[in-house]
Amino acid sequence: MSGHVLCRVEDIPDGTARGFDWPKGEAKVKILVARKGGQVFGYRNSCPHVGVALEMDPDDFMSIDGRYLQCSTHGAQFRVEDGMCIIGPCAGRPLRSVPVSVTDGVIAISD
Ligand code: FES
Repeated sequence: MSGHVLCRVEDIPDGTARGFDWPKGEAKVKILVARKGGQVFGYRNSCPHVGVALEMDPDDFMSIDGRYLQCSTHGAQFRVEDGMCIIGPCAGRPLRSVPVSVTDGVIAISD
């Protein structure tokens, strides 16, 4: 498998998301991976509003109803499937996607 391995699909409970540090050269880029059933979606963990990480508590990325990714700072909510902000101060602006793939149950960032 190519790419940077993150974890196994079952390490992210269905309907939740998990944060990772993605080593990129000298830097570490904060990303999150959300899971819906067998599908996973990767995004930069940076709110389009003011660029902060979405979560305040580790891996606490979901809205109370569990339907959307949510920024803890001002409450913006994002669709899991495409990262689009549908409510909040950055409505209409998406999270930056990170290409992730699943091979044999293992999630990796695609090269
Ligand atoms: S920083 Fe995310 S909604 Fe303001």
